[in-house]
Order: sequence, then structure tokens, then C-alpha cells
Amino acid sequence: MCGIVGYVGREQAAPILLEGLSRLEYRGYDSAGICVSADGRLQLSKSKGRLQNLIEKTENGALLPGTLGIGHTRWATHGEPNDINSHPHLSQGGKIALVHNGIIENYLELRQFLQAKGVQFASETDSEVVAQLLEFYYLQTHSVFDALYMVLHRIEGAYALGILCADEPDRIYAARKDAPLLLGYGNGCNFIASDVTALVKHTRTVAYMEDGEVAVLTRDSIRVFDAMEQEVQKERHFVDWEISAAEKGGYPHFMLKEIMEEPDAVRRTISPRLKGGRITLDDLTLTRQELEGFSRICIIACGSSYHVGVIGKYNIEKLARIPVEVTLASEFRYCDPLVDEKTLVLVISQSGETLDTMAAMREAKARGARVLSIVNVVGSSIARESDDVLYTWAGPEIAVATTKAFSTQLVLLDMIALYFADLLGRIAPERYQALVDEISRLPEKMEAILQDCKGIQHYASQYFNHESIFFIGRNLDYALGLEGSLKLKEISYIHSEAYASGELKHGTISLVEQGTLVVALSTYSPLFDKAMSNVVEVKARGAQVLALTTARHRAEMEKNADAILTIPETEDMFLPSLGVIPLQLFAYYMALQRGCDIDKPRNLAKSVTVE
Ligand code: G6P
Repeated sequence: MCGIVGYVGREQAAPILLEGLSRLEYRGYDSAGICVSADGRLQLSKSKGRLQNLIEKTENGALLPGTLGIGHTRWATHGEPNDINSHPHLSQGGKIALVHNGIIENYLELRQFLQAKGVQFASETDSEVVAQLLEFYYLQTHSVFDALYMVLHRIEGAYALGILCADEPDRIYAARKDAPLLLGYGNGCNFIASDVTALVKHTRTVAYMEDGEVAVLTRDSIRVFDAMEQEVQKERHFVDWEISAAEKGGYPHFMLKEIMEEPDAVRRTISPRLKGGRITLDDLTLTRQELEGFSRICIIACGSSYHVGVIGKYNIEKLARIPVEVTLASEFRYCDPLVDEKTLVLVISQSGETLDTMAAMREAKARGARVLSIVNVVGSSIARESDDVLYTWAGPEIAVATTKAFSTQLVLLDMIALYFADLLGRIAPERYQALVDEISRLPEKMEAILQDCKGIQHYASQYFNHESIFFIGRNLDYALGLEGSLKLKEISYIHSEAYASGELKHGTISLVEQGTLVVALSTYSPLFDKAMSNVVEVKARGAQVLALTTARHRAEMEKNADAILTIPETEDMFLPSLGVIPLQLFAYYMALQRGCDIDKPRNLAKSVTVE
């Protein structure tokens, strides 16, 4: 959700903080702020709206001298986005400045407690309570370290905290529970950040803070303490993401750049796992015997990752003949789920930090399930807490609407389906071989789609004024429609729905009238004729139909659809991997036509670390 960055070193902190925040803006972007400590003064600057406002207000940081500071970019939870509710929050006596990502659940109770002691609050946020409580205890203990532990014992909820104290102008304090926070080890400087993208320009050596830990950073050292206040030695990791991966590289938007990167991202994800014509999942410790012991697979995820799961259900059940249930993580955690040691739980998450997904995973583990996760961000919380993790190698994804991460998740899940089918002896060797061979051809086929996006651009310029759009399809095309529709909603703000074509007649068709745009997904060959009947059905009610199909069905589709997009032929199970690209581009160009802020759509954030 919100983005946090902190710097302690020898250079002027403010420009470094602002640059770090610019890389974290995709986590939240309704307001931003920094606080720099110099000579015992905490200098604060905050601004509503985009980070650019803060950059201008501080003359790119020049107005705030000092070599130690913290910064924050916000996605509002408690209190509307305005200058006062922005972070950092200053305590009443001006001793403490604090940035927070997460939600303090018992903030009202703590606020009342402090108000009764005479503390006056400036903002409506839950975060200010932490700053005020810290100062309250600090004035009693005269030790930020001790006071911080007292605060951590009282607050409930999720938090990543970055803290400055006016009386200790050489250090930053940090603490974490259920919200991501990294430590960055520089040369004569050190960092905290919610995400590696804010650090890679300065250092590639990081450590991941664990729940309950407190860190104390000076420019020469980082010391970390556990919940019992015992010092711990952190394992350091090397991040191999290039800084260029987090830059637009000539593209107008990160989203377009990331769509164009899909073939390479998929190549990186599949290549190391294809050896001698076979799928090898070296990181997977699951044995054949263990796999045979599972009565079912339960897939848990949110957003687009959930849609990967919906597609995966069709493919896993068909190939490996294991029953699969796909559940939204936010539902799973509260439904008294029927999982036990005979359930394999597949968790899918780009960020590895989505709070609902993490909570659902913990619930499943507590009930004895074995967890295999598919994650993009190395070392993220979900990755670390899973029994097994398979990484997608999409690289950093900056645009809020996921594209390349989705494609890598999907191909990896398909590989898992094939691997399981083979391990259980449920697929004929020739069929296995044909499918494995086809996986390696996917990047090339994706490139072919990307080389010719003029048609998609043209249709977007024709249809961008529609206010309500329906995506219909059957089987894998239905699952694909869920993602196509979500992409469109997220970035173009056009109302859209995805329906299983067979369900249209049970209600939704009443919404189809003269001129309604229906995107008819008809790539899945076994059901092409049925898909065609649905096209005819909506045409008869006046709909305009934009169809997506494969090259061989184009001529047939031309008889009824108003406009057609085609994808190359592939094995049925991989059709969504190709089909999703035109849909992502369609959403992109529709949003472009409507003048939307594509990389930072309203009300959304990339990494959702609140419930
Ligand atoms: C947010 C993002 C989506 C993403 C979802 C799940 O809503 O905007 O693109 O699909 O979170 O995120 P995860 O990181 O768990 O895949």
C-alpha cells in the first residue's frame, strides 16, 4: 500500500528520499511527505496529491538540509488525503516524526487514552497515534528504543514504521509486523524501504525485516533486535534487479513497457525449468508420494492472481485429474475453510505481500495444509512463509495493473499442471512432450502478437466512448474474460462485466441493447460453435461484437462479428497466455483514448497490504 523510504548517510537526505519515493509512488499516490533531521530539528514537508507537488514545494529537497530522513507516499485508509493526514506525523512535543504503512486496529482506544492524558491530535489518522504514543513513553523513559518496544506491545494491527527522534540526530528506527520493510546496506549510508525498487539505485544488498523486529540504523551500522529485544544477525541478500528495469526506457507508460516485456519475462520464467525436453522444478521439494496423498488443491489469491488461479483450475483438473478449488483470499480467511494436511494450497501473488493472501495462507497452514506459492518478489513475506516457493521471473512490475507478472504466473501454473500430471502418470508421454514443446514456443508467439497492435489501437479509438462493456466466453475463454474485464475497469474506469456465455440467458442478456459492446472471446476450439451461437444471440439484440479468436476461426467469425482480433494457434491450455495480450493492450489503448492516468489509476495501489 503506502511506500516508505529512509536514508542515513553523508549526502543530503531529501533528494534521495524524493527519488526513492518516486519509485514507490505506485504503492500509493494521494499524498507524500518527508522529514529531515538536522541539528536536532525535525524539518517536515508534506503535500496532498502526487509526489511532484512535494518535489516542487521543497525545490527537489534543497529546502530541507540534513543527512538523515524518512519519506512516505500514501494510499489513504483513515482520514481523507490532505496535507495534515499525510505522513510523516509529528508528535505534539515535536520529538518524534513517524511514517507508517498498515493499519493500527486499536487506534481509537489508544487515541482516547492519550487524549485523556492531554495529548492533542492534529490528524484523523491511525498512524499519528503511534507517533504520539511513542513520544508519551519516550518522555517517561528517555530512551526511544525502550519506548518503541512499549508502543509495539500496545498497538494491534499491521505496520511498517520509520521513526526519527529530534534528540537522536544520527539514527533511524524501524519496526515491522505484517507489512513489508527492507533494510538496505550502503557504503557509508543505510536505508529502509518498503520495496527494493527504492533501493537498487544505491545498494543491492538488503535484508528483510521479520515480524516483531526492530532495527536501528546509523550511517555505519544496522542493528536488528527481535521481539524479545535480543540482537539478531540478519541474512543479507543480493538483489539482481537492474535499475533500468524500474524505469520507463522510452515508453510513455510502465504498463506498455511491461506488456512489451512479456515474451522475455515468460522466457526467463520457463527456460531454467525446461531441461532436456522435460519440466524440472528444482525448487519444489514435493515428492510423488506426497502429491498422491493430497485429495485436492486449493488455490488462493486476489485480483489478477486469482484469475490465474481460475484458468489454472481448468488446466490442472484436465491434465492431472486432481480436484481444484479457487477461492478469493479475502473470502477464504473467514469461511472456516475445509483444508487439512490432505490439501495442497497454491498461493499466487506478484508482490508476495498482499495482506489478504498472506492471512489466508497462514490460516491454511494453521489447519495443516501444505503451501506452495508462486511469487514474483524474491524474499517477500509469502515466499518466506511458504513450504515451497516457485518464483516467476517477471522482474519489477511498476504499473498498478499487472501484465507481465500475470503472464509469468500463468505459464508457471501451466507448467505445474503438466509436471503434476506427469509425476502422477496421468498424461501420455507423447502428449506431455507436445505440450512441453509448445511452452517453449509461447514467447515467440507472444512477440508476434505484440508486433502488430495497430488493429487493437484502431478498435480502441472506435469504442472508447462506451460506458458499459461485456466480456463473454466459455471455459478458458470465460476465465480469460475475467482478466480482460478487470484490466479495462482498472485503468479506463469503464464499467465492464465478464460472464460465462452460457449464463447470459439467465439474466445478463437483458442488459444488451442496441450498440452495447460485447467482447466475445472465442479462442477455445472445442467450444467455438457454441461461442458463435452466443455471438449471434447478442447480435440479434443489437450488440456490437468485438471477437477474439484464433487464426483458423477468423473467416468463420467474420460472418457475424463487427470486429476481430486474432491470436496464433497454440495448444488449448495455453490460449489464455496468448489471448490475454490483446486484452491488456485493448484496455491500455482504451484508457489512453480516455486520457486516464494509466500507471496510477484512481483509488488503486499495486501492493495491497491492508485488509
Ligand atoms: C492489486 C494489484 C493487482 C493484483 C492484486 C493482487 O489489486 O493492483 O494487479 O492482481 O493486487 O496482488 P498480488 O501482488 O498478490 O498478486
